[in-house]
Amino acid sequence: MSMKSHAYHINDIFFSLEGMDIAQYDETFLINSANRRCVATKCETIEDYLELLENSELERMTFFDNLQIGYSSFFRNPLTFYTLEKVVLPDLITKIKNSKSKDLRIWSAACASGQEAYSIAMLIEEEVSCNENEKCNCLIFATDKDEEQIEMAYRGQYARHALDNISLKQLDKWFIKYGNTFFVKPELKEKISFSVFDLFDRNYSSPPTSIFGHFDIVLCANLLFYYKENHRKIILEKITGAMSENGYLVTGETERDILKKYHFREVYPHSAIFRRG
Ligand SMILES: C[S@@+](CC[C@H](N)C(=O)[O-])C[C@H]1O[C@@H](n2cnc3c(N)ncnc32)[C@H](O)[C@@H]1O
Repeated sequence: MSMKSHAYHINDIFFSLEGMDIAQYDETFLINSANRRCVATKCETIEDYLELLENSELERMTFFDNLQIGYSSFFRNPLTFYTLEKVVLPDLITKIKNSKSKDLRIWSAACASGQEAYSIAMLIEEEVSCNENEKCNCLIFATDKDEEQIEMAYRGQYARHALDNISLKQLDKWFIKYGNTFFVKPELKEKISFSVFDLFDRNYSSPPTSIFGHFDIVLCANLLFYYKENHRKIILEKITGAMSENGYLVTGETERDILKKYHFREVYPHSAIFRRG
């Protein structure tokens, strides 16, 4: 059996036995997930694993839970965050301070449990505070389709090991420690508006909380690779429609090739920061 037919088989199992449509997931992603579960369940071949998937409801639920990967970390993709910190944000903030509106609008469009949104919020606060005399209002909208993830993001509560990429200075400035847990300080949390939003929502072109799109930076990282070509296209069209004319799109570094196919231009080599055209 080919990889494609294994993926069809998995789709089929979920559709006929659970009534779930998982056909939007990329075939390679599905097969890699099945291979990982094949090892974890000690099946000898992928065919054995597909038989297990067909016969065990528990395994189907475990497989599905594993697909909804909500992993995130602070300053994930260090080169991209370094470029944001040293080049993109200083430039953007200077332009915005000299503009009429003074608003810097950011959307973290698949924020999982908040690390991405808090990472960019720390960088912006640090950059803006370098020159307090000049005004710049930063509005950060952080959304995810998963309600539990958004609750965790809003709680802003992380174990020490989850904060490894954060400098001691940032840890001291933006977190409060209780026992082994670190809580995001309210003054950082209040910079971000968290809400549930599915990027396939047909009714809204951007999170309703943001009122209108027009984002200077949209972060949509480590999400596109889950989806098939036509679903990636829908997501990218939505995001592009919500970006300001010279806005930046930030993806995961492993997703750079996907973006190049859709006429996005990599602004800084090797970082996953793009502009249209
Ligand atoms: C791997 S996490 C990425 C988190 C973060 N952007 C990062 O790079 O660390 C992927 C997130 O995408 C979210 N997601 C998947 N499909 C989505 C959709 N259609 N709309 C909004 N969020 C979605 C998942 O719930 C998950 O939290």
